[in-house]
Amino acid sequence: MTQAPSATEAAVEAALARLDLDMKTRLLAGQDRWSLPPLPEIGLKSLVMSDGPIGVRGVRWSADDPSIALPSPTALAATWDPGLAHRAGVLLAQEARCKGVHVLLAPTVNLHRSPLGGRHFECYSEDPYLTGVIGSAYVKGVQSGGVGTTVKHFVANDAETDRFTVDNVISARALRELYLAPFEAIVENAHPWGIMTAYNAVNGTTMSEHHYLVNEVLRGEWGFDGFNVSDWTAARSTVGAINGGLDVAMPGPRTVYGEALAQAVRDGKVTEATVDKAVRNVLRLAVRVGALEGAEPAVTELPDTVNGVELAREIARRSFVLVKNDDNALPLKPDGTVALIGAAARDARVLGGGSAAVFPDRTVSPLDGLTEALPEGTLSHAVGADPNTELMPADKGFALRAVCRGADGTVLATSPLPNGQIHWSFADLPEGVSFDVLREVELTGTFTPRLTGPHTLGIKGKGAFRLAVGGITYYDGVQAPDEDDPFEGFFSSPQPRAQVELAAGQPVEISLTHIVALGDYLREDITITLAHQEPRRDPDELIAEAVEVARAADTAIVVVATTERVESEGFDRTDLRLPGRQDDLVRAVAAVNPNTVVVVNSGSPVELPWRDEVAAVLLSWFPGQEGGAALADVLTGAREPGGRLPTTWGSLTGAPVTQVVPVNGRLAYSEDVFIGYRAWDKAGRTPAYPFGHGLGYTDWTYESVAVDGDVATVRVRNSGDRPGREVVQVYLSPVEDDADRPARWLAGFAAVEAGPGETVEAVIDIPRRAFEVWDEAADSWSFVKGSYNVKAGRSIADRGITVTVDV
Ligand code: BGC
Repeated sequence: MTQAPSATEAAVEAALARLDLDMKTRLLAGQDRWSLPPLPEIGLKSLVMSDGPIGVRGVRWSADDPSIALPSPTALAATWDPGLAHRAGVLLAQEARCKGVHVLLAPTVNLHRSPLGGRHFECYSEDPYLTGVIGSAYVKGVQSGGVGTTVKHFVANDAETDRFTVDNVISARALRELYLAPFEAIVENAHPWGIMTAYNAVNGTTMSEHHYLVNEVLRGEWGFDGFNVSDWTAARSTVGAINGGLDVAMPGPRTVYGEALAQAVRDGKVTEATVDKAVRNVLRLAVRVGALEGAEPAVTELPDTVNGVELAREIARRSFVLVKNDDNALPLKPDGTVALIGAAARDARVLGGGSAAVFPDRTVSPLDGLTEALPEGTLSHAVGADPNTELMPADKGFALRAVCRGADGTVLATSPLPNGQIHWSFADLPEGVSFDVLREVELTGTFTPRLTGPHTLGIKGKGAFRLAVGGITYYDGVQAPDEDDPFEGFFSSPQPRAQVELAAGQPVEISLTHIVALGDYLREDITITLAHQEPRRDPDELIAEAVEVARAADTAIVVVATTERVESEGFDRTDLRLPGRQDDLVRAVAAVNPNTVVVVNSGSPVELPWRDEVAAVLLSWFPGQEGGAALADVLTGAREPGGRLPTTWGSLTGAPVTQVVPVNGRLAYSEDVFIGYRAWDKAGRTPAYPFGHGLGYTDWTYESVAVDGDVATVRVRNSGDRPGREVVQVYLSPVEDDADRPARWLAGFAAVEAGPGETVEAVIDIPRRAFEVWDEAADSWSFVKGSYNVKAGRSIADRGITVTVDV
């Protein structure tokens, strides 16, 4: 049930009328890291926000508040299934409600402009249409559960280098046809209740002050009526931000709004009417999510409860893209022996780094999943190569707790820690602790190693630390004292501080003490990590061991992966290579086992230099907490891998757009409208695997395509021998070459299912926008008449079947 908008507006106006200037400006400023202040005077609860997009972390940035972890956004887009994206949204709303969260800081709908972009894994696709379809369904799903979204980051936050300050220089046409397009589609189709403006500037103006793009385009042209929140710490100017259409400055408590905004009104620099507009947007959100007493929320009947574990597994297997499967290497033959190789086969890498990280209460590794699925005695495992070249947060084998102490050493609180990470702002300190009294935090407990040898322990974070292992102090000093990046504690590398000889199975006492600084910044945020690395074995020896295991098995499955130091928010990649000796490992295994299957566990494209030497390649993205179970479903053939590439996979040398480093603060999007497949086409290069590509376990024959008005009907036959699902894709290309336009582009798609021998019809809407270009001179969309080839196929590169239409 949805409430009539007029009732919402009446409730908003009534609430606004009861607020004085100070209350209004207070409401626009974060009170802490995640929430706005309550205004009990008008029955308004504190509005709580939380990251997104693959789970709901909640207001505690630590593993003691677990959340379902779904596959990475690249994986969700690889399903090409708005229905699944909608169900993901419904689940996330359910999780949000359990955690008292009103607004999910998601989805991320920036584009895969360059494969080097650090948050590539967190965005959907290089194609604005696919991004818009998946994003719209996700937003509708979340909001159907009565929880708001903030579609982010508006706009052009497509890389991480100098992300707070970079000025992206983009033509009006590229902005409209590419970067704004997903936002526009989502505003039109899903009516999001929020938007998050990006850190970066576009064409000279920082996005948290961009009057033209926010007030004129987003609100004016598109009719967006939700609230606009800054990215965290992005609001820098009181007057600039409010006049630029920014409603809420996050996080708090120190922001450019609140008292500073009230003062700006009193000084005549900002009109109260401008403040009122922002307050209305926040009050409208409050009504929608049910945080304003007496006003009926947007959703009064909640959707049915979703089983998060099952959904995580379903999305994962539907997202896996089988890019190569020579001689039907997959599915595995029943009863054959399997050598499972790779560090990531045992220690699952389920999600990407940065604010998108959540803490699931379990993860299923490929080893767990296959052990469960395969007959006993048929599976062996070897590490082969470890992609982690540096220390990782202390996890397996550690039993830790945090002890908080006051000035005189009194214990203020003790709280269990599921791993070695703490990320506390004042709102999420353990019960009974405040920054006024907290002087020391100790991570303490035991570590039981699984390997004998020299273990390295280290520290991530800044400030004063003391590290002791087995009662011996190995480090007592101050880390990174001069670094003033507020996120340093979060994105920096852990520093090795102790190397200790330990024996497998023998517990040892561990203690990491952090002295809380009395300076301003650190008193409001404690971000520290106890990090660890197992004894390093000789890489050649590891590979040799894996080769022997592979030689003895019918099939070798090698899981290769990136790490958090490769794919994360906070920095861009500098190459697309798999870290460590993983390429050597694959080659060595493939040389002894012709049935080598490689599972690529990365959120975004990596180079696969050995792809011609192996039998099959399956891309599993960051598959979320149930990834290993889903992998077993697909490898054994219980289910078919359902994914299609949402982005082109190729080498860095072939990739057309690789400039992500600004020059003198500016990053020119000089490729204009040519990113992704549009750019590969223009450069006349062939990537490793094209956009839209992905195999299932059956075959499909495209029989006919007909276009009637704005609908394409495509008949396809399942010409294989098992039931399957096909993503039928429709691409447009102008018959007359036009150098200013891409050679071809995705215009629509639909999925069909059919049994062996069955023929089915896919009915695909082709939106008018597919024929339009942005006319910079006229400042409007222009429909380009003429003849177009309409191709239905299995990928952009598939020959498929074509019909020509005149429009
Ligand atoms: C990220 C946002 C995120 C916010 C809060 C920022 O650094 O860019 O995507 O929602 O932090 O964690």
